[in-house]
Amino acid sequence: MKRIINTGSIRFRFFVFIALLLLVLLLLLNFYPTISARDAVYQEKQSSMSSRGAALASALAVLDRPDEERVAEVLRLLEIQDYDRVLFTDSEGRTIYDSGGADDAHVREDVQTALSSKTVFRSSLRGESFSSGYAIPVSAQGVITGAVYLHESDAERGQILHGMQVQIRTVSLIIAAAALVMAAVYSSGTLRRVQELSASMRIVAGGDYSYRMTTSGTDELAELGNEFNELTERLEDTERQRRRFVSDASHELKTPLASIRLLSDSIVQTEGMDSATVREFVTDIGNEAERLQRTTEKLLALSRLDDDIQIVPEPVDVRQVTLDALAVLRPLAEERRVTIRTALDDGCVVLATVDDMFHIVFNLIENAIKYNVPDGSVGVFLHADEETVSFTVEDTGIGIPEDETYNIFARFYRVDKARSREAGGSGLGLSIVHDAVKAHGGSIAVGQNKPQGSRFIVSFPLYSIERT
Ligand SMILES: Nc1ncnc2c1ncn2[C@@H]1O[C@H](COP(=O)(O)OP(=O)(O)OP(=O)(O)O)[C@@H](O)[C@H]1O
Ligand SMILES: [Mg+2]
Repeated sequence: MKRIINTGSIRFRFFVFIALLLLVLLLLLNFYPTISARDAVYQEKQSSMSSRGAALASALAVLDRPDEERVAEVLRLLEIQDYDRVLFTDSEGRTIYDSGGADDAHVREDVQTALSSKTVFRSSLRGESFSSGYAIPVSAQGVITGAVYLHESDAERGQILHGMQVQIRTVSLIIAAAALVMAAVYSSGTLRRVQELSASMRIVAGGDYSYRMTTSGTDELAELGNEFNELTERLEDTERQRRRFVSDASHELKTPLASIRLLSDSIVQTEGMDSATVREFVTDIGNEAERLQRTTEKLLALSRLDDDIQIVPEPVDVRQVTLDALAVLRPLAEERRVTIRTALDDGCVVLATVDDMFHIVFNLIENAIKYNVPDGSVGVFLHADEETVSFTVEDTGIGIPEDETYNIFARFYRVDKARSREAGGSGLGLSIVHDAVKAHGGSIAVGQNKPQGSRFIVSFPLYSIERT
């Protein structure tokens, strides 16, 4: 079985990152302390060997005709015992005194260098022991008379350093193992949550909008999960509204269509139907068709308001729009024996579109007439103050129960289904008003009119040239 490592995965990258970081840290930890400890030992060796070497060289310089015994005497006097080799030569490099012992490959070479009036120090760590050599010229009155060579091996320090290295290495391995285990645990925990999130997204994308992720904690991933749940909730809500809307709309269209069918069937199937009845039936068919047309027009208006197509607002004179709407609605008012009072201020200009403004004004006044009582009245007022234009429609009609005031703006909603139907309403007028008001940054409020009826107030920011 071949195992494929996904080198693009977050887990792989995370591991590579952690491993590189560990490598750099542990290399530093392993080398830096031992190198600096070793350098400190070298330095200490150099200063002690050079001071003692110099003391020995000046003591030997004053010996005249030095021989082995005298040199040994000087060494005793200066208490130089801790070197494993002391060598003294004359100016030709011939051995005068040699304590023997450790043999360094560089002895002869260093003695030659010392004879050419240079001091030499070399130290190295061989195995677990420091091996240091020092050569210095011996000179009397500016003339080189010989050279001294000292050699020392220090196993103790070497072992300490070696022990330190071993300890650091052990600690490093433990740190590396612990860090990798922790990284593995952490990354698999985090990745499991990321995978859960993407699995949830697939479920929701598959159409199950009721699915919710279980989240815990307060970190970024939990936040992401919560956001995702909120988003899903909104999706579910939109989907629910969409379904309701489709079913309501079909129902709304079905009823007049059924009437049309029934009426036309009756005409076709009833033989010898008198022309007055036919006329009556055909008129009814016409009315139903008209109702269908009104409903579809309103649906179109709503869907246009729903679209995010950028509408270009223009300054609209609300007074003019109101006068136009009133002209259309007067016959209806007369038919219902409803009187209309108006008080319309000049200069009520708002930023909107004439069509949307007409929808707002028309639907509110139409409702005030339709849901009125015979000999009732409707008041239409338009007023502007420094910042706002307010348009008020009040009536003395049947009124709206307080607990219905939220519902009336919903699509296809009617308080009294029978009455609205009879009045030819589809329950879409106020949804259009609501959406159009919102689309142009206005607000709408509904309340009771005293002593009876209802009152709608729509407010918009006043458009003025100085302000824009
Ligand atoms: N001025 C009012 N007085 C009493 N009830 C009202 C008034 N305006 C609206 N309503 C109630 O609110 C419901 C919704 O009104 P809306 O204008 O949305 O629909 P509609 O008038 O029934 O139909 P459409 O306006 O589409 O022809 C109405 O059916 C009616 O019950
Ligand atoms: Mg209406």
